[in-house]
Amino acid sequence: MLIEPQGVAPTPFLSRRRTLQLLTGLPLAVHLSASPATPLLRRPIPASGELLPAIGLGTWQAFDVAGQAEELVQARAALSRFAELGASVVDSSPMYGTSESVLGELAAALGVHQRLFLATKVWTSGREAGIRQMEQSIARMRVALKGPLDLMQVHNLVDAKTHLATLQDWKAAGRVRYVGVTHYHEGAYAEIERALRAGGLDFVQINYSLAERSADRRLLGLAADMRIAVIVNRPLAGGSLFGRIRGTPLPGWAAEFGCASWAQFFLKWILAHPAVTCAIPGTRNRKYIEDNLGAAVGALPDAAMRRKMAAHIDAL
Ligand SMILES: NC(=O)c1ccc[n+]([C@@H]2O[C@H](COP(=O)([O-])OP(=O)(O)OC[C@H]3O[C@@H](n4cnc5c(N)ncnc54)[C@H](OP(=O)(O)O)[C@@H]3O)[C@@H](O)[C@H]2O)c1
Repeated sequence: MLIEPQGVAPTPFLSRRRTLQLLTGLPLAVHLSASPATPLLRRPIPASGELLPAIGLGTWQAFDVAGQAEELVQARAALSRFAELGASVVDSSPMYGTSESVLGELAAALGVHQRLFLATKVWTSGREAGIRQMEQSIARMRVALKGPLDLMQVHNLVDAKTHLATLQDWKAAGRVRYVGVTHYHEGAYAEIERALRAGGLDFVQINYSLAERSADRRLLGLAADMRIAVIVNRPLAGGSLFGRIRGTPLPGWAAEFGCASWAQFFLKWILAHPAVTCAIPGTRNRKYIEDNLGAAVGALPDAAMRRKMAAHIDAL
């Protein structure tokens, strides 16, 4: 039964949303920020049903800061806040200089290994070289503090057939929990598609953003059909999306889906694609972490709103 509230008489001329706004005195949509008390949106890994927070963290460049005192303090504060806000997926690679070691050392110092979902990659050719590199990554990230590595991915599909054979053995032996492949460019989508169709993958990591949309032509649908989790890299197009909107205010209608910043606009657009499991913006800036995790709080745009968002960016 609907109880007519006191004070404001809803009229046929007021929309339900407007009536609610008048009743509550709140803006049309309330922006909810990430806080330790606010659960983040989580999405299931299709292979297992395990839930992952939908915003993670990329470490390329951002965590390649061994020996740099000021940057290490920043990275530590960023990782600490990331874990405190309930996020978990952190992506690295032996290609990212000292990032794996910095991540491992900081996570150990903060005592957060158990709370993180650690993903790294293999980026070399040959079976023995791959095994050596993967063992080195696991040691550098101090994975023993949490159990098996969560996710090992073949970076840019380098010698994928060889490494995936090793990784199927490792997975069967409980040395890694999930296996995947990555790329960052649409030129490799045909090869990625072949890898997905070949089977045996739990994850695919690819670029997808308002600046790089081609993955939704085929790949995202294929991943969903094949029940493969999707990690989105370059979700902010390497930061170039911010150049595109410089000097442009966030449109007022972004508040309708709880969006309070351009970063959240870009990330919520990605998360609103149903095939996406997690996006991993790269940063060691604590404020950016808070901002980015806000995209995994509250509403997401529907399909019509996503089209409006894309058209808005195209018109800038
Ligand atoms: N082939 C592969 O496997 C592959 C390829 C590319 C990337 N990746 C993975 O994906 C991750 C993300 O990609 P990416 O780092 O290249 O690009 P990205 O996440 O699209 O963009 C990173 C840039 O966005 C900026 N940024 C982050 N959050 C922000 C915010 N809230 N407000 C304003 N600026 C913000 C960062 O600035 P600051 O630097 O100032 O913090 C940085 O310049 C990588 O770190 C890596 O882990 C994998």
